[in-house]
Amino acid sequence: MKKLIPTGCSSIDESLGGGLAEGVIILVFGEAETGKTTLAIQCAVNCARMGYKTLFIDCNHTFFPKRMAQIAGDDFESLAPHVILMRPRDFKQQTLAFDELNDFIGKKVGLIVVDTITSLYSENIGGEAKKGFALNRELNRQMAGLAQISKTQKVASLVISQVRSVVFQEQAVVQPVATRVLKFWADTTINLKPTSRSDVVTASVETHRPRHAVKKAFLKIEEKGLCDYKS
Ligand SMILES: Nc1ncnc2c1ncn2[C@@H]1O[C@H](COP(=O)(O)OP(=O)(O)OP(=O)(O)O)[C@@H](O)[C@H]1O
Ligand SMILES: [Mg+2]
Repeated sequence: MKKLIPTGCSSIDESLGGGLAEGVIILVFGEAETGKTTLAIQCAVNCARMGYKTLFIDCNHTFFPKRMAQIAGDDFESLAPHVILMRPRDFKQQTLAFDELNDFIGKKVGLIVVDTITSLYSENIGGEAKKGFALNRELNRQMAGLAQISKTQKVASLVISQVRSVVFQEQAVVQPVATRVLKFWADTTINLKPTSRSDVVTASVETHRPRHAVKKAFLKIEEKGLCDYKS
């Protein structure tokens, strides 16, 4: 039986065929404060409830135990040891963290989270084109490595990306930073978008392989995490 880690939002789980599946890379992107980190922590908590560990590459340094405690509730103390945190400070350290994944991986790892894969990369970019090319190539290498680990070690991967605004058909649309590289490796994307209510977001789930229509749902951000919201 394939491992499926529930996200905690049945609307998303339904679109994903039950949850985050082993061997699958899910790209989560969206503007600031749309619940990307909350979703990642929630998945790590659910993974821990299934008895599996999460390797959490926290590039933003925004994994707060207090937030995990709110989401995990009474089980926090027993679930916390199931999260292995890595906190790179620059893109070079992020590269090392990816290279070390194999040392941490084992039968008991069910999920790898990268939050946010492009934050340290973005700090480096903006210089000469040559440097940008090298960074892009390294990002591609990291994603290729992650894809291989996900498939061979049977773990699910949740990769979070920032967004940037681009003009498409005379409209401003948001896309993940380094769209081409990230979308190439992702099997599924979840786009979180703000609404007029600060505690409600929409989630559009798009499966690339096999290709499905985008499914959209409303989610509410609460103290205990993200949950389905019926408007
Ligand atoms: N305990 C809580 N109860 C209710 N809402 C909360 C709680 N903690 C955080 N939030 C809300 O969650 C949102 C931030 O969620 P989160 O950090 O997951 O977003 P994000 O998309 O990761 O943001 P960023 O792009 O800045 O990393 C904020 O709107 C905040 O008000
Ligand atoms: Mg975040």
